[in-house]
Amino acid sequence: MPEQYLAGCTALVTGAGQGLGRAISRQLAGLGAKIILGDVDADALDETARLIADQGGNTVTSVFDVSNADAVHSAFEDIGQIEILVNNAGVCPLTPPDEISEAEWDRVLAINLKGAFLCTQAALPGLQASGWGRVINIASAAGQMGGVAVGMHYAASKAGLLGLTKSFARHLAPYGVTVNAVAPGTIETDLTANWSEQVRQDLQAKIPLARFMQPDEVAAAVVFLCSPAAAAITGSTIDVNAGLLMR
Ligand SMILES: NC(=O)c1ccc[n+]([C@@H]2O[C@H](COP(=O)([O-])OP(=O)(O)OC[C@H]3O[C@@H](n4cnc5c(N)ncnc54)[C@H](O)[C@@H]3O)[C@@H](O)[C@H]2O)c1
Repeated sequence: MPEQYLAGCTALVTGAGQGLGRAISRQLAGLGAKIILGDVDADALDETARLIADQGGNTVTSVFDVSNADAVHSAFEDIGQIEILVNNAGVCPLTPPDEISEAEWDRVLAINLKGAFLCTQAALPGLQASGWGRVINIASAAGQMGGVAVGMHYAASKAGLLGLTKSFARHLAPYGVTVNAVAPGTIETDLTANWSEQVRQDLQAKIPLARFMQPDEVAAAVVFLCSPAAAAITGSTIDVNAGLLMR
């Protein structure tokens, strides 16, 4: 069993119902953190909670939409103070630019970018009071290099998340709170499961390691950022992309 160095900490992971958010939640729970599992999908949250209970972890579920300010504020009234926030909830349409409606643009930006802002804003009083904290934003290689398969609204939202990360890193540094991003390439989750074989093959041909990532490989970077070893890292982005983008 790994050292339980997050014992006594409470972590909110948004989009925890499946995929990367579930993997992050399981790994943080394994280090002793109490996990608030946030998502719009109550059934999916129950399944994540069951899996973590099976490994001996402690969770609370919170059903809310990160893009709705009222819903976020009301969820935080129940959640209370947290020390770790993982802004992971996201959507990723593949819509080509000439077909992106204004409503779809607004929805993608609202969930992927505004949602991270709203959750971090709501967490500020607790983070500032605790004197130690970690905020991790799940960005994407698409936000750094432009979307290869994904929509440009998605790439724009993830690029915005990197600016938000640096801004909150500056704001929260005096309180002992680090703020960083993890920028994955393509991960094997439901988000990518229905991509066509052609899209998958074209993408893998561009990746030096010639494969997509498993959720646990990306979650490991989040865990690292929560560890004592990462105490001096803030305003940074960790790339976990199998070599797709080398900066
Ligand atoms: N899968 C990939 O290849 C990949 C690559 C780079 C970055 N990412 C990012 O990783 C994160 C997780 O992706 P995933 O692959 O696990 O996706 P996923 O679709 O498997 O899971 C996303 C979760 O977010 C939840 N969600 C969606 N909208 C929400 C909202 N408004 N409020 C609260 N919860 C909401 C969904 O219900 C779902 O449980 C996303 O931010 C995504 O952009 C994924």
